[in-house]
Amino acid sequence: MSDSVNKNRVEVCFAPCDFHQYEEGFDLVVVIDVLRATSAICTAIEHGVKGIIPVATLDEARELQKEGYIVAAERNGAVVEGFDLGNSPYSYMNPELKGKTVALTTTNGTKAIRIAEQKKTVVIGSLNNLTSLCNWLVEQKRDVLVLASGWKDKFNLEDTICGGAITDMLIQSGQFISDEDSSVAAKFIYRSAKENMFAYLKASSHRRRLRALDLNADVSYCLTPNNVCAIPILKDGILVPLNEVAEKV
Ligand code: MLT
Repeated sequence: MSDSVNKNRVEVCFAPCDFHQYEEGFDLVVVIDVLRATSAICTAIEHGVKGIIPVATLDEARELQKEGYIVAAERNGAVVEGFDLGNSPYSYMNPELKGKTVALTTTNGTKAIRIAEQKKTVVIGSLNNLTSLCNWLVEQKRDVLVLASGWKDKFNLEDTICGGAITDMLIQSGQFISDEDSSVAAKFIYRSAKENMFAYLKASSHRRRLRALDLNADVSYCLTPNNVCAIPILKDGILVPLNEVAEKV
């Protein structure tokens, strides 16, 4: 709690390599990777997937595959050879995945989750679960750090927009302030993008990458606010639905 004004802080960290500069004093982290890892994870949990194991490397993913897990793997936007599933939110709407645990490795998103995992509370955010996530964050009365997965440790626009949306909503609740310039910048970028995020992101590097892979439908889905209510939370190394975690987080 920021004692001078008696409000909580919400701050945005633009890339995993900067996490150590921002993390001090925060024990609640929201990890975001709008295109597409955290949008896919929120969608999977919403559609009844029991849990997602976030995996940082392909080697770890192959080990879990040998152990019999369903394993999804994406690198540079494409499904990795030897794996059946990738990172499209649509693939997690498959009723056959209901009740199953899936291990997932992605270029940036799952690595960012693993970087944040030592924190007391790690939840997953996206534009898809924006309002339910922000309502829950307001109820927590705790400082919130939003960790953007970025692209290979660099800033990206889509995560910045989502970080700005979360910041804007929390500040508008009257309970939060931001100190960092990154958070102020994210909020202003969100405000200039929010009326047409798809067009705003036309030139963004990952949108271009996904367009080249014919994945525009995934982009439209990931940029649709509030089509999901689920809030995945990390519990013993597995992302599960927040409403199934009994104890206070
Ligand atoms: C990532 O983790 O970098 C992404 O989700 C990439 C993608 O699948 O679009």
